[in-house]
Amino acid sequence: MLVAPSLLSCDFAKMGEEIVRIDRAGADLIHLDVMDGHFVPNITIGPSVIKALRPYTRLPFDVHLMISDPLSYIDAFADAGADYITFHVEADSDIDAAIEKIRSRGVKPGIVLKPKTPAEAAFPYLDKVDMVLVMTVEPGFGGQSFMADMMPKAEKLRAEIDRRGLSALIEADGGISEKNAAVTSSAGIDVVVSGTGVFRASDPAAAIKAIKNA
Ligand code: DX5
Ligand code: ZN
Repeated sequence: MLVAPSLLSCDFAKMGEEIVRIDRAGADLIHLDVMDGHFVPNITIGPSVIKALRPYTRLPFDVHLMISDPLSYIDAFADAGADYITFHVEADSDIDAAIEKIRSRGVKPGIVLKPKTPAEAAFPYLDKVDMVLVMTVEPGFGGQSFMADMMPKAEKLRAEIDRRGLSALIEADGGISEKNAAVTSSAGIDVVVSGTGVFRASDPAAAIKAIKNA
């Protein structure tokens, strides 16, 4: 299992240093949460901050867009140095157009499902994306409790991806730490996001290792 620490739980006054710290601790990807105060009731960072952070690591940037109109901002996030851009199927943009746009910029596209959105909503896109992100909290805030009842959805996606011989990764995001990572691994999840579970751990390297080996 790969671990993508979410910068949402880092010290925002020292984001560059925090990326270096988490890279050295063994992160596989850096998860960046973009919120627009419209799709979710919180506001975080945008493309200019991501661009400023890009020189601090060579790890892939996994940019999670929680914004109403992802299509209009894909160029900006591609220019900022995103390696993955994931956006919500519940957002307003045309899903196929957004996937194609991300791909046309040489970035890996992914779609995200909120807790109430069924696995089947992702099925038409599974052959077009590199990642499917299953939210295990309601998007908007770090530090919430993991929703274990999302695991059947991840298992359904795993079965469908394998049945069709596809290669899209399944990512889970929200409330994951070394305490519950084993549950995600047995559901067939490839990448876990962990914000507070890693950044607030007394030993982030040990926390990352424990999640990977769960
Ligand atoms: C929630 C974000 C998550 C979250 C992860 O909207 O997408 O990435 O911040 O943080 P923890 O691991 O603290 O739930
Ligand atoms: Zn996220």
